[in-house]
Amino acid sequence: MSITTGNILEVRGLTARYGEVTALRSADLDLKEGELIAVLGPNGAGKSTLMRSIVGLTSASGDVRFRGELLPRNAAAVAARGIALVPEGRGIFGPMSVEENLQLGAYMINGRGEDYERRLSRVLTLFPRLKERLSQAAGSMSGGEQQMLAVGRALMADPKLLLLDEPSLGLAPKVTAEILETLAELNRSGLSVLLVEQKAPLALKIASRAYVVVNGRISTEIDTKEITSHDQLARYYFQ
Ligand SMILES: Nc1ncnc2c1ncn2[C@@H]1O[C@H](COP(=O)(O)OP(=O)(O)O)[C@@H](O)[C@H]1O
Ligand SMILES: [Mg+2]
Repeated sequence: MSITTGNILEVRGLTARYGEVTALRSADLDLKEGELIAVLGPNGAGKSTLMRSIVGLTSASGDVRFRGELLPRNAAAVAARGIALVPEGRGIFGPMSVEENLQLGAYMINGRGEDYERRLSRVLTLFPRLKERLSQAAGSMSGGEQQMLAVGRALMADPKLLLLDEPSLGLAPKVTAEILETLAELNRSGLSVLLVEQKAPLALKIASRAYVVVNGRISTEIDTKEITSHDQLARYYFQ
């Protein structure tokens, strides 16, 4: 099926509730093989719920297909198919060393297999700052370095699809730009990327398309070439 549609990810009618609150209402989304797209929207819109529902961390109804095959609603099984999520807030283990955190990313999929060294060296080439800090406690690094570690840890699983939930949160503009440029580079080398961002102008620079989530609904799909000003973007948020 992926050959006919060319989509690595197809989300259909995804709906998630927390008790009485419906946080995500019948979301539809497509990501083509090799594409990098952005998911924008204000705080509380349902972006994290969308990400967590895709990877099976939040119970949801609806269909998520990966290369045409229905994904099980189970986070470990989803990870094993080749989908990695860099969660909001990074989720790294502060007292553990940088290298131990990276090892965890590899363990989650296939243990510390023969491929470990190759994966580690690829991650350290992408983020040389981690190389200098391999034995340092992850929690003692700067926010930007911790975000690099969170991305690096996800890459240790050698994913085909990378989901990122607000990687720029709390980071200085320069560090954010550096991380987004690395994502663009990964995408150019073939990785499919779904990027949640509140800092829309930055995300739109590297994305080919964007979805806007408002009040739990994916309200619009926009071609990033159409967006040339803040005002135009605000129209999508406040329509
Ligand atoms: N664990 C939870 N329990 C109850 N409500 C939640 C939970 N997580 C998120 N919500 C609610 O769901 C809605 C969407 O949240 P979220 O997906 O985190 O939005 P965003 O990532 O766009 O800021 C919000 O109204 C939020 O308060
Ligand atoms: Mg969020």
